[in-house]
Amino acid sequence: MNTHRIAVISGDGIGPEVVEAALEVLAAAASTYGFTTELQKIPAGAQHYLRTGELWTRELEENLRTYDAVLFGAMGDPAVKPGVLERGFILAMRQAFQQAVNFRPVKLYPGVATPIAGLTPDRCDLVIIRENTEGAYVGRGSTVHTGTPHAVAVQESINTRAGIERVVDYSFRLAQRRRGRLTLVHKKNILIEAGNLWQDTVNDIASQYPAVEVDYVHVDAMCFHLPLTPERFDVVVTDNLFGDIITDLGAVIQGGLGVAASANLNVDGTAPSMFEAIHGSAPDIAGKGWANPTGTVLSTAMCLAHLGEKDAALAIEAATVEVLASLPALSGPAMGMSTAGVGRAIAEAVRKGGPFSPVPGQSVIEDLAKMATSMALHN
Ligand code: NAI
Ligand code: MG
Repeated sequence: MNTHRIAVISGDGIGPEVVEAALEVLAAAASTYGFTTELQKIPAGAQHYLRTGELWTRELEENLRTYDAVLFGAMGDPAVKPGVLERGFILAMRQAFQQAVNFRPVKLYPGVATPIAGLTPDRCDLVIIRENTEGAYVGRGSTVHTGTPHAVAVQESINTRAGIERVVDYSFRLAQRRRGRLTLVHKKNILIEAGNLWQDTVNDIASQYPAVEVDYVHVDAMCFHLPLTPERFDVVVTDNLFGDIITDLGAVIQGGLGVAASANLNVDGTAPSMFEAIHGSAPDIAGKGWANPTGTVLSTAMCLAHLGEKDAALAIEAATVEVLASLPALSGPAMGMSTAGVGRAIAEAVRKGGPFSPVPGQSVIEDLAKMATSMALHN
């Protein structure tokens, strides 16, 4: 029987609530599909920081390195200055573990309400690959004459050929397994240095994937193409900053922050990958049981797919789709079930083992499992 060692960082606010729900689903999947998990809960986040002053530490890095994956809730609290946890912990982990591929499905599941009138699941089935370690998020820059009318702020964006190649190659391979279309999103008409390096890299790698059709869209144009004609896209690859922004737009289209899932993949097999819903700690609804845990549950399914438990992952996805379609609203008291209740319902459906209605379209679970296998990231 396979054992997967998973470090669990619940964090703050609704983080622990949605993670508890996901862990119930994970336990159901493990007992139904015949694997075991060894879970270690790691204290971290705003509360931990306020108590101990600790963010990302050397000891934590060494400890986490021994795990197969990290399941993450969310971090943030009004009592901690914005940026402290983002840069001091989340970005630190992505960089230390070289989680270069931020894998963000934008998939509208059946029965999920989207704010885009007339949009149907068959038209909204894409993956955004965001470069996760470079660009404007490297934390380089300086300010002079702070607090004076002559203040000058310089914020650098670092783009390396090797860093771009890593995500572009992954994106081509993913597109090759999917519908064979890759779109680069950038702003190369204005940010010409970085934009040209991205475009040149895409052009060079494209010759190895003749079956993949390559496209380019400016990031501003993406803000109307994505909501209005998502069917135009299969795999989208973009830099750290643009990816951060357009993935939130993608989340809105697929039903909101509560349902959007993500993976932060180390594609070299040198450190664990991390799986998280894309929302934050939502202090406005923390403690009320109103948070939708499905983003975290689907991230857990992605984690299992990555670890080689494809059948369990597919069952979690199908069970989640079933429960999602039955919810009268996607969050708040109108959801009709608490956060824990949604987790329980999905766990029960997983235990029952179906039969599930097939999840339409391209399966990101299959995609992730196959990509991990092809890179020998699991046995
Ligand atoms: P947020 O994602 O926490 O919340 C935005 C809005 O969406 C809120 O109205 C919230 O109630 C709602 N929402 C979020 N997740 C939901 C869910 N699962 N179910 C139902 N409704 C949900 O973003 P916000 O308010 O900008 O940030 C709050 C804190 O979270 C800040 O400290 C921020 O720095 C942090 N944050 C952390 C992230 C992470 O840990 N990866 C990512 C984004 C923000
Ligand atoms: Mg964001």
